[in-house]
Amino acid sequence: MPPLIEALTLHKSFSHTRAVAGVSLRVDGGEAYGLVGPDGAGKTTLLRLLVGALDADSGTAQINGYDVARQTELARQHIGYLAQRFSLYGDLTVLENLRFFGEVRGLGEARVKARAEELLRFVGLAGFESRRADALSGGMKQKLGLACALIHEPKVLLLDEPTTGVDPVTRQDFWQLLIRVLAQGTAVVVSTPYMDEAARCNRIGFMHSGRLLVEGTPRELAAMLNGRVLELIAQPKDRARRVAQADPAVEDVLTFGDRFHLRVAEPAGPLARLPAALAEAGVTVTRLRAIPPSLEDVFISLLAQPDGK
Ligand SMILES: Nc1ncnc2c1ncn2[C@@H]1O[C@H](COP(=O)(O)OP(=O)(O)OP(=O)(O)O)[C@@H](O)[C@H]1O
Ligand SMILES: [Mg+2]
Repeated sequence: MPPLIEALTLHKSFSHTRAVAGVSLRVDGGEAYGLVGPDGAGKTTLLRLLVGALDADSGTAQINGYDVARQTELARQHIGYLAQRFSLYGDLTVLENLRFFGEVRGLGEARVKARAEELLRFVGLAGFESRRADALSGGMKQKLGLACALIHEPKVLLLDEPTTGVDPVTRQDFWQLLIRVLAQGTAVVVSTPYMDEAARCNRIGFMHSGRLLVEGTPRELAAMLNGRVLELIAQPKDRARRVAQADPAVEDVLTFGDRFHLRVAEPAGPLARLPAALAEAGVTVTRLRAIPPSLEDVFISLLAQPDGK
């Protein structure tokens, strides 16, 4: 079986911007692939290349074995796409929106009707059929968007920041829906700014300046910084930060709520030196210890060295 999504060295530039610069990607059925990366990394452009909304300058993309550039319609039959700034028809009702997307997909009336009912139940919008899309909350709009993207039972689902700006409870609901979609064997690519969502994916690709810098399971990526993150809880905080930053082995100091994560070249030196240095500066230390790295630690370290060296 070919992978449901297979892209080989895709390139796409806009005048002088290399938005996608040689990306290869392979996603199988039942797999959630998380795309993370800073603004302008090329995530949306990559997804638009996969849908065939943009023509690649070079490279190929296949969806379920169909070439997106040469067999665009065949490929698209297998794709559900939720764009970053997708639009529902605000003056149409929930049901009318679903019907519209079903008709665009060439589904017959009876099929649309049955599918719409099933999907409204699935996304938790049963009972809201006659509400105008404009009058839905942000999270409900995203769920309706997902339902519209799924109307033709696609094997491949491409979601561009589907939960950005959505409250945490609704984000949780949304992921429960994705888990069910994945269980049906769908291949999902989802771009997200949220690390907790990236951590739910089977694999993550970290994109920067049009390239996939690293790819791996959440566990593999976190392991890239094994032994190189220290947690520091200390008061006063600004003085603690200054002292930590001055240590020669400390590369970066990140704030996570009431604590700091120190990224270190090696842990032994700072663990030995910092207690005395902090005490001398009048800083009270509650905790200083090595901790398992988070994905956020890893991605920030990659941004510090965007060429991945
Ligand atoms: N239609 C376009 N015309 C010109 N430049 C574009 C176009 N689309 C994207 N770009 C540029 O390509 C680069 C990648 O943009 P893209 O939207 O793919 O990034 P992104 O990772 O999705 O960012 P964000 O997280 O902000 O959504 C950016 O520099 C962007 O300005
Ligand atoms: Mg984008």
